[in-house]
Amino acid sequence: MIKLIHMTTAFISISLFLMRGYWVFRNSPMMSKKWVKIVPHVNDTVLLITATILAVSIQQYPFVHSWLTAKIIALIIYILLGMFALKYAKEMKNKVLFFILALLTFSYIVSVALTRSPIWFI
Ligand code: HEM
Repeated sequence: MIKLIHMTTAFISISLFLMRGYWVFRNSPMMSKKWVKIVPHVNDTVLLITATILAVSIQQYPFVHSWLTAKIIALIIYILLGMFALKYAKEMKNKVLFFILALLTFSYIVSVALTRSPIWFI
């Protein structure tokens, strides 16, 4: 059940990110709506809470088990890239670049989750 919530919030997180990217690239007024600012944070909080519960339930932890270390570091990178893509980057080409890098980072997190290995590609 917790894993299902974790995976669902991960899916919602990337869906909201794709949607906000679309609105930023189209200069849409949707970006100033209150729910657009709040809902992603609520969802990401649930994602992190379920991540913590799962880690405790399987007794594996970041900075002890490498795949969870990779996941948490990549999650921080994903959040930072997302902030630059949606907020801080001024030029459109930089927004697009950060956006693509954030998507690649998210894909990496999913692949680490599925393989339980930080370097599955070697
Ligand atoms: C955007 C961020 C994240 C995404 C997309 C994500 C995705 C996933 C997915 C798809 C699974 C299911 C894997 C499977 O059943 O094969 C999973 C499980 C899990 N995730 Fe995450 N996750 C994220 C963040 C985190 C973080 C930050 C942590 C903790 C440090 C974490 C800890 C776990 C744990 C412990 C499991 C359970 C593994 C198991 O029981 O087999 N996740 N995650």
